[in-house]
Amino acid sequence: MSLTPINGRLPDESRPKITTATLREQKLRREPITCLTAYDYAGARLVDEAGIDMVLVGDSLAQAMLGYENTLSVTMDEMLHHVKAVRRGVRNALLLADMPYGSYQVDEKDAVRNAARFVKEGGAEVVKLEGGEKRADLIRHIIDAEIPVAGHIGLTPQSVNVMGGYKVQGKNLAAVEQLMRDAVALDRAGVSCLFLEGIPREVAAMITAEVSTPTIGIGAGPECDGQVLVFHDILNLTFGPPAKFVRRYADAAALIMSAMQAFRADVKSHQYPADEESYHLPKDTRAALDTVLARKRAMRR
Ligand code: KIV
Repeated sequence: MSLTPINGRLPDESRPKITTATLREQKLRREPITCLTAYDYAGARLVDEAGIDMVLVGDSLAQAMLGYENTLSVTMDEMLHHVKAVRRGVRNALLLADMPYGSYQVDEKDAVRNAARFVKEGGAEVVKLEGGEKRADLIRHIIDAEIPVAGHIGLTPQSVNVMGGYKVQGKNLAAVEQLMRDAVALDRAGVSCLFLEGIPREVAAMITAEVSTPTIGIGAGPECDGQVLVFHDILNLTFGPPAKFVRRYADAAALIMSAMQAFRADVKSHQYPADEESYHLPKDTRAALDTVLARKRAMRR
């Protein structure tokens, strides 16, 4: 099979290029789907080369990369800047970009235009937006513009002010029924996958069994078709206590801190750079320079 270059880099032919069709096949054969966020070139390369199926440029970059309080402040231009960087690092994974708050809630035409920017300028293959059945028509319009869409229901961080904080959703019968209606509406609208965030395991399991689209859980239990976590969370780069569902796979903060401290100590104690870490003049230039300097010294005497 001949592969198309993505941003000048060919997919690694020893692994499949993941597409939206692959996700459906994975659901059908019950192969768990993996997804991690990435926000820059280096992170994207690591996630992609680790064999993760989907790379999400989440609007969580607002906090993880930009230090904002929540996801509400991040703009289209900021998101696009990071999507482009991630695109340059991803070869085989499916690349998803989060539509930031305000980029799709105001006006339908605006939403389609913004989604198209992620594809055209950023190289994203799927756009993700938050909200349930009330977004179904909008999602149809974006799909009509040839742009695959991922849904996101449950604890939707862009609704933090409406939810009154980051709280687990779907805890009473009415809320469970609403979540089910949301999932079915987005499935019918044709989403390529459905992110389920911060909902009880039992509810996520019911939704996963009901819809044909693959479900990707975060804080939604093990019965989802796939799992997503935030890059900075799994590496302990978040400077705060993790949420219950986060599993820390490495302590990058400790590793980075000890590297910084070692560098500082080496410079302060004149241990860095050593001679072998320095450039040297070529022998003949060095000899010529020595002659010039000797002549100058002789003239000064
Ligand atoms: O922005 C984000 O990181 C997300 C999650 C689903 C991980 O939307």
